[in-house]
Amino acid sequence: MEVKVFGVVGAGQMGNGIAQVAAEAGMNVIMRDIKDEFVQRGLDTIKKNFERAVSKGKMSDDQMKTVLSRIKGTTDIGDFKNADFVVEAAVEREDLKLQIFKELDQITKSDVILASNTSSISITKIASATKRAERVIGMHFMNPVPVMKLVEIIRGLATTDETYKVTKALSEKMGKTCAEAQDFPGFIANRILLPMLNEAIYCLYEGVGTPESIDTVMKLGMNHPMGPLALADLIGLDTCLAIMNVLHQGLGDSKYRPCPLLKKYVDAGYLGKKVGRGFYNYN
Ligand code: CAA
Repeated sequence: MEVKVFGVVGAGQMGNGIAQVAAEAGMNVIMRDIKDEFVQRGLDTIKKNFERAVSKGKMSDDQMKTVLSRIKGTTDIGDFKNADFVVEAAVEREDLKLQIFKELDQITKSDVILASNTSSISITKIASATKRAERVIGMHFMNPVPVMKLVEIIRGLATTDETYKVTKALSEKMGKTCAEAQDFPGFIANRILLPMLNEAIYCLYEGVGTPESIDTVMKLGMNHPMGPLALADLIGLDTCLAIMNVLHQGLGDSKYRPCPLLKKYVDAGYLGKKVGRGFYNYN
């Protein structure tokens, strides 16, 4: 099955990254968000990434124009009627994802695979919003998408081998390496990563260290490319909280309780790098 038209739901940091790598892999991309300004911001980010690649001599100006011409931004979900594969990268809210998958199921051709970039929500549950559970799968990219090599693939209860094979081949076409995880809260990546980030936030909350000392310990002591608090800011503190809530509720173990300081930052609107303020100030 050849994917010529690749649909992406969401033009935020994950959605625009996925759109970028899909276009670089030669596919025509439809990137949809709910407001024109969100679509435009996503397109601007992709253009900035390509301009940086051109200035570094990694891409020619003509190549940039060709790849950019493959990406169409839209606010109309109906534009997915011609898509051959769709990946959803909306915010991490179960009710929203169920609604999106219900709509995608009605709009897209019946043989189209509907993938979710969810960080933690059950693929089996998301698939239940459609009449094609066998063609629903988790396709979890990492942030920043153009740089990170992994796609975590998660099958729901009804996902077929064929759906898995197409999704894996498509991820590899986009230059990624796949690892398969079972459909449990947080899968593999966030089952392991988020408790570490949450623990770093507890260290800050309890005064064990400052943001700088906590991040320095993990960068220089453990060779992590960035410290856990900077990484939480990069992921988005609202997303981190949403994932911790899925782990806590889904696994029912108090070791996954979100740190009160994380909740407080989210309540304050300190959502991380994307708004200029998280554990660090980016303004
Ligand atoms: N988009 C595109 N390219 C980017 C980028 C972005 N947002 N950020 C950095 N890059 C590129 C740079 O252009 C640069 O490219 P070249 O090598 O071609 O010059 C390269 O990445 C390295 O960037 P920098 O030199 O600016 O910075 P760095 O070496 O410190 O790397 C980093 C930045 C890649 C973000 C690195 O710090 C890193 O790997 N951090 C950890 C990221 C991580 O753990 N991600 C997973 C998050 S968890 C997740 O995503 C799952 C989830 O569900 C929550």
